[in-house]
Amino acid sequence: MHVPVAIIGAGPSGSLLAWILRQRGIESIVFENRSRAYVEGRIRAGVMEKNAVDLMIRAGVGERLQKESMYQRGVEVGINNTHHFIDFEKLIGVGVTVYGQSEVTKDLLGALDSVGHNVLYETPVTGVSDHHGDKITVTYEEGGVEKTLTADFVVGADGYHGASRKSLPEGGIRMHEKTYPLGWLGIMVKAPQSKPVAFFTYHDRGFALLSMRSPEIQRLYLQVANDENLEEWSDDRIWDELDARMGTEGWELIRGEIFQKDLAPLRSFFCEEQRYGRMFLAGDAAHIVPPTGAKGLNSAFADISVLSAGLIQHYTKDDSSILDQYSRLAVERNVQTQRFSWANTAKYHIFPGTNSFERRMQQAELEYLVTDETAQISYAKQHTGLPFAYWPEL
Ligand code: FAD
Ligand code: PHB
Repeated sequence: MHVPVAIIGAGPSGSLLAWILRQRGIESIVFENRSRAYVEGRIRAGVMEKNAVDLMIRAGVGERLQKESMYQRGVEVGINNTHHFIDFEKLIGVGVTVYGQSEVTKDLLGALDSVGHNVLYETPVTGVSDHHGDKITVTYEEGGVEKTLTADFVVGADGYHGASRKSLPEGGIRMHEKTYPLGWLGIMVKAPQSKPVAFFTYHDRGFALLSMRSPEIQRLYLQVANDENLEEWSDDRIWDELDARMGTEGWELIRGEIFQKDLAPLRSFFCEEQRYGRMFLAGDAAHIVPPTGAKGLNSAFADISVLSAGLIQHYTKDDSSILDQYSRLAVERNVQTQRFSWANTAKYHIFPGTNSFERRMQQAELEYLVTDETAQISYAKQHTGLPFAYWPEL
């Protein structure tokens, strides 16, 4: 079997790409090693940049998003129990949108399903070969049987642990990585909103974040060690710690039923090239950021915007000029997103081994941010997202 585009992974990157290509009549097949329910149930991102929202709308899968998402005009910053609002809307005319990643995948996989698109669930790709040949080969396992197909192009949208990057020869693509001695303990809570916007807190006890998924569901995080034991965190201990880091006179964090707890170690990783022969890398397969900047899903959509524009141009106009620039354009944007996520992580977290001077300087930097309009404009631009280099013609 031969297909024009073989997509590995049905997460946000792979499912959005398949949907956009389909809109322009370009055939693809999607391999996903998990079940549809598993992919849809994965609780991860919550904050979308305006461009990511616009891409969903332009692609015709933004209806529910427009109805159910929550627009936020800025963020609140906590500095050792004082609260400060930064109004992105007033500073640069654009805020951010809250809509859970699980809703994004439900919308995309639902749309693909409704038109009977070829998404092979529980079908892991085990290898990619002939990257530089006339056609590229994908090896996959279907019902316990190993099979192969060929494609014009493979898109590795299979996340950090996927098969696409593993198929590269040593040194085929340059990569950079940083691990942090930090983790985020996340909880999902049934409770009304304690604040109308996300609340990023610097505190001598460690970073904390209050975010949300809907008016009834709140998402909160605490900085912990990257090898923290979840068992040691009872509900009461979590609430007491959140209060200690976030509380201030005249404001109280509203508690509720915790219905999920998870732990995510912080990591930065990116590829210096996002193409190897006939294989393109997109989303988490090419880059991971610590969540402090809320950039993972948004960077994935930025990649897909340029890649889909390139593939559409290639197939409908016999012109590969955008496709040939994909790697450079994607990396140019992603390296800036890496810098913001890394710098934001350094700004808000207490790193083991730092002394009172270093912590006081961290605090001073945030005090500068919440009082200086020029600093706020720069922060707002980065937080709300850099432009997408190309948009697919839809
Ligand atoms: P993935 O979502 O990882 O999808 C890859 C898919 O490939 C998976 O479904 C996987 O099962 C499949 N796969 C893997 N290997 C194979 C194989 N061999 N064969 C076939 N299929 C395979 N981002 C934001 O923008 N904003 C946020 O607020 C935010 N918060 C986050 C909070 C947390 C706690 C975490 C963990 C992440 C957060 N992110 C956030 C990051 C965001 O979730 C990811 O960047 C996003 O999921 C990337 O999508 P993707 O499609 O590239 O990769
Ligand atoms: C979330 O709502 O899950 C969220 C919000 C902001 C972040 C990271 C995660 O920076």
